[in-house]
Amino acid sequence: PRHLLDFQDWAPERLSALLDGADTMLNVLSRPVKKVPALQGLTVCTAFFENSTRTKVSFELAARRMSADVVSFAAGASSVSKGESLRDTVETLTAYQMDAYIVRHSASGAAHLVARYSGKPVINAGDGRRAHPTQALLDAYTIRQEYGDLKGKKVAIIGDVLHSRVARSNAELLPKLGAEVTLCGPATLLPLELGQMPGVTLITDPREAVRGAHAVMALRLQQERMQGGYLASMQDYVNTYQVNEALLAEAEDGAIVLHPGPMNRDLEISGDVADGERSRILKQVSNGQAVRMSVLYHLLVGRD
Ligand code: CP
Repeated sequence: PRHLLDFQDWAPERLSALLDGADTMLNVLSRPVKKVPALQGLTVCTAFFENSTRTKVSFELAARRMSADVVSFAAGASSVSKGESLRDTVETLTAYQMDAYIVRHSASGAAHLVARYSGKPVINAGDGRRAHPTQALLDAYTIRQEYGDLKGKKVAIIGDVLHSRVARSNAELLPKLGAEVTLCGPATLLPLELGQMPGVTLITDPREAVRGAHAVMALRLQQERMQGGYLASMQDYVNTYQVNEALLAEAEDGAIVLHPGPMNRDLEISGDVADGERSRILKQVSNGQAVRMSVLYHLLVGRD
């Protein structure tokens, strides 16, 4: 595929090739001079209509490390604030001859719209609740780095599944690569339809969810999207679902801990676990740069 909007049209072999490419990119990033000419002459636009730290910084670095020109478009500082539509914004930017777009937007499906009106390769950097494919790729890469392979690995994802595009993309990606996914949270935050996906199980009991897990991922409680009724109380959530040492005692001995960030420390994850031996949270962040270099390379240069 020319775009990375979700994983629908992506065969497992091609997804593995993206992860293999990230190995090569990590080698580039370990050198004193972390720059290659792979995307020289191309212009990449990061079009962010919603805030970001990790995804925006790592995509911009990834493109620059491969010698692309980068246009950093932030909707809040643009004519979007005067009411300009997404379509007109994209057509305007395309008139400046962008070669690819990296799009974040609060509306599910917005990246598809950018693909339609730009006619250029688009990478979805998070659209509403729908998908965040490069986050799932860097999560998969971090687990693969630990275990060598994803086949037969059990991944428990715990927290606010309802509002999470990260959970949806991981539920789509990890089974394609041979892993089993358990999504866990209170019933109010666990959409039943995700249980229909191949390789995905829904569980409300966190102890059962982490039993035998090789990786445990905590999800951010998106409190800004919870207007009452989702939780009995915050303390009740912490007591039952917080990823902490007591819960991890049920997981595999060497189980690693992931969090896509940003974290609510001591809410969905305890501070000691976030900073502890099992944590691969900052490894996820640094892997994100290599994975995004690989995605850009595969989509724009098209060689495996
Ligand atoms: N994980 C993630 O997408 O983080 P940002 O919102 O900071 O990009």
